[in-house]
Amino acid sequence: MSREWTLRGATTEYTVGLPEHGGWLELRAWGPHGVSDGPSPLGYVGRPQYMTPGDVAAVEYAPDGVRPFAGPDLVVRPARALSWSFEDAAQEGDSLRVDFADAGSGLRAALHYRLAADSDVVERWVELTNAGDSPLQLVELGSAGFSVPTPHGARLTYLSGQWAQEFTPATTELRRGRFEIGSTLGVTGHQFSPYLAVRDARDTGPTWGVALAWTGSWRIVAERDAAGLTRIRAGRVAVEGPLALAPGATLVTPVAAGAYSAEGVDGLARVWHAYERGLAGDRLTRTRKVIYNSWEATYFDVTAAGQLALAEVAAEIGVETFVVDDGWFVGRGDDTAGLGDWTPDPAKFPDGFDTFVDRVRKLGLEFGLWVEPEMVNPRSALYEAHPDWVYQVDGRPRTTIRNQYLLDLGRPEVEEFVHSTLDGLLRGYDITYLKWDFNRPRTEPGRMGVPLEDPDLDGAHVAALYRILEALRRDHPHVTVEGCAAGGARVDLAMASRVDVVWPSDNTAPIDRLRIQDGYLRAHAPHLMSSWVTDATGLFDTRPRSLAFRFVLASAGVLGIGADIRRWSAAERTEAARWVARYKQVRDVVTQGEVHRIGGPDEERCAVQYTLDGRVVVLAWNPGPLDGLGTVPARPVRLKLRALDPATRYAAAGALYSGAHLMSAGLPVHWTADHDADLIEVTQTSS
Ligand code: GLA
Repeated sequence: MSREWTLRGATTEYTVGLPEHGGWLELRAWGPHGVSDGPSPLGYVGRPQYMTPGDVAAVEYAPDGVRPFAGPDLVVRPARALSWSFEDAAQEGDSLRVDFADAGSGLRAALHYRLAADSDVVERWVELTNAGDSPLQLVELGSAGFSVPTPHGARLTYLSGQWAQEFTPATTELRRGRFEIGSTLGVTGHQFSPYLAVRDARDTGPTWGVALAWTGSWRIVAERDAAGLTRIRAGRVAVEGPLALAPGATLVTPVAAGAYSAEGVDGLARVWHAYERGLAGDRLTRTRKVIYNSWEATYFDVTAAGQLALAEVAAEIGVETFVVDDGWFVGRGDDTAGLGDWTPDPAKFPDGFDTFVDRVRKLGLEFGLWVEPEMVNPRSALYEAHPDWVYQVDGRPRTTIRNQYLLDLGRPEVEEFVHSTLDGLLRGYDITYLKWDFNRPRTEPGRMGVPLEDPDLDGAHVAALYRILEALRRDHPHVTVEGCAAGGARVDLAMASRVDVVWPSDNTAPIDRLRIQDGYLRAHAPHLMSSWVTDATGLFDTRPRSLAFRFVLASAGVLGIGADIRRWSAAERTEAARWVARYKQVRDVVTQGEVHRIGGPDEERCAVQYTLDGRVVVLAWNPGPLDGLGTVPARPVRLKLRALDPATRYAAAGALYSGAHLMSAGLPVHWTADHDADLIEVTQTSS
């Protein structure tokens, strides 16, 4: 007898069914409420020729015996051609669990689903248990397969990049074959975000998204078959060799998340944003403090006097938290030494670090520190004491990147060291902000004295990272944690639930940053997006922009300042103070509101609209050439706002408009050479 289960979220439903043979679970429908009422859009007609039914069906999670031609989600050795049978299912509240077992190997798989009632994201993961007597090895261990109907070809949108150029959106059309993104570096990576949006090539509305909550090596693969189905597989990738599953052991895969929106990639972004707001829990509504970060002002040249001079100006401007970046600890004169020795440098803080922190606090500022706790420089006391703590393959040279090694966090003594070091800093000083950096991936996949295929270095490192972050949050709930990895190399759904903000890129130059933030916002929410106003000139597009432009840009998420504000003129400081005050008035709308992107960084019409409980804030930029503006007749740029009430009247920048006008004709902005950005509040009026 065929059985079906439907999970219903805020506007989405997801229905899976068990065919009569009971050999797999398949997707019956995934879309808006009601989509399950009708013949499955994923069902096929005709007979599979020269392949098996599992290669054609919308199989939810396929062991290799079930999809021998099209590719499985799970490959196990020494067992081959796993074919499993249905055991049991339990649906409770927003969750579903379906159990299968493979008689030959003793492998049991529990397929887990969760679609919260207020969300449009279905979370999927698998629990694999070796209930047999012999050890098993997991060669492929996907978290989930997602099926999307793409009769005219699949349009894929993804985010790629490199250092200083993260979150660059790209699209490709997949007619047949395979598209793959991922990381083999033991970290999420600069190269690709674990994010993929898929829609039919001709149908711009319905769009499906897949993202992975994993901070180690990963893979997302999309394959379109001859019958027009695109199947997306997401999961960890066992770069270092198969993962061992001993008799009695259980391994749980990371969550692969699936999102649906009827409103294209932009609508999908709103679904992901809402999901990430949910991941933040009650930390979401905490005030996101305006920070100052000293990195671009002083680099490694940290001195108490220099930092205090910066802090004084920061306080005057309205900054709330002062963060000392790299260079504060012993031996850290440059990037060749010091990592691992997390003691404030007495030469740089001659009156003591306590006194320094106290002076910052007396200015009315909270205090924060940069750390990179998973790292060690060969020139450090830590390395001298524990050279065996770094990843290394016996007898092989070790690679330094930025003159540093990566600590093997999967070793219990290393985890204990990192946890107690950070816990000690947070207990020892009056710290409310921690910027946790990670500037190099793993290159040598080995542990001294341990055979290469054992243990699971990736899983052990990531699990320890999560444990430490969770412990720090539990024990120091008032501390804001910023996740950074040479810019945005560690931004994923797993980090989104364990840190408060992320640093999307080291590139803070105005036009470059505008592009990065535009890409970032397709996958991630503004409450997580740390952004600074700096004087950086840019790597890719060096055209200068006004201070207003840079403030509006950094106000698109969590505002920070990173310029050498000691050098700012009195007029610049006054203007900065005005922008900081304005940000404080609207930051709840920006960090908790619904986002609509209007235009983009390649248009003179480039804005982001934030809407929260009827409050609307529009941030707008002119990224185009500024010369000549105003010298010939031109009409203002019109920003077509979204999701307003057509009949309500709104006030914006001194004029009145109907909602209908703002949505169809648009909000006018008149760019001039010295007015290249604006922050506009659109408020409902009673008239
Ligand atoms: C990385 C970070 C920067 C800064 C430096 C400090 O590059 O991404 O923001 O903290 O390290 O060394």
